[in-house]
Amino acid sequence: MTPKQGSSSHYRGEAVESVSELNRRYGIPDQVSFCQDPGGFIHVDVKNSWASARIALQGAQLTDWVPKGEAPVIWLSKEASFQKGKSIRGGAPVCWPWFGPHESQRDFPAHGFARTALWEISRVESRSDGSTHLVFRLPEAAFPKNQWAHATTLENHITIGSSLEVDLVTHNLGNQPVTIGQALHTYFQVGDIRTVRLLGLEECVYLDKVAGGVRKIQKGPVNFTEETDRIYLGATGDVLIEDPLMKRQIRVTKNGSTSTVVWNPWIEKSEKMGDMGDEGYLHMVCVENANAAEDVVTLAPGAEHHLWVRYTTA
Ligand code: BG6
Repeated sequence: MTPKQGSSSHYRGEAVESVSELNRRYGIPDQVSFCQDPGGFIHVDVKNSWASARIALQGAQLTDWVPKGEAPVIWLSKEASFQKGKSIRGGAPVCWPWFGPHESQRDFPAHGFARTALWEISRVESRSDGSTHLVFRLPEAAFPKNQWAHATTLENHITIGSSLEVDLVTHNLGNQPVTIGQALHTYFQVGDIRTVRLLGLEECVYLDKVAGGVRKIQKGPVNFTEETDRIYLGATGDVLIEDPLMKRQIRVTKNGSTSTVVWNPWIEKSEKMGDMGDEGYLHMVCVENANAAEDVVTLAPGAEHHLWVRYTTA
């Protein structure tokens, strides 16, 4: 996409740096560039010797990651809309500071406000191992005071190298403990969900949201034959996405996350959602590194929490 130079836009009352300003301050020739789509959405494109990637400034949301010589790893719906303040279907949305519906305020946005807010970029580095490191920050004005009265900061550190690493950093600046729920809600591209298996969750207890939240125990690998919406509790190990059609394995490694959410909406729910695309559900699976349900995190005053993940393909 050709960068549209010299334009600027407003977002939730805030002046946003123009694309030309962003390119001047953070662009790296042949490696990092910013562009704006016709709807005004700003994206960062990264290209290095390891991979290419795209991140939307809204939500600091990764929407594409293609390791060199491989097929795309991240699923983005063909019907994804890039509209200010609306969630993007696919990619790696940041759910924060709660996961799913707010526990008491039903009119607060599902999965928190971070994914639909406009983030700033605060650092871009080209590293000696050929990787590119980007730091996004949620500006103070983007924290809606009526939904979140705490003094916290939130950063999303993304490193595109031989693997993809994401580190979601929450800092409690206040003098009271703060409890957060969160997830890196990543949609992975798969050949056909009906042939995919997830390994690494065997014997974990999970909350089956499709069955009203009842607790079950995972027996063997996870297979997909219907709508699947589960929160695996106390799940800290790697998950392997085995994809025989794409002849690929994606390894999901994490730290600072004690729950793993596995989601595929299947046919009926996809139809209701309206932005999954035709048969989109067949080609995606969400494996979300989370702190959800009873696995939320409490940060003491001054404490910092890292939800860190690494995705590798083989
Ligand atoms: C998953 C939840 O993480 O996200 C599901 O477990 C939910 O219950 C899904 O349907 C998608 O959420 P949203 O808000 O992006 O439609």
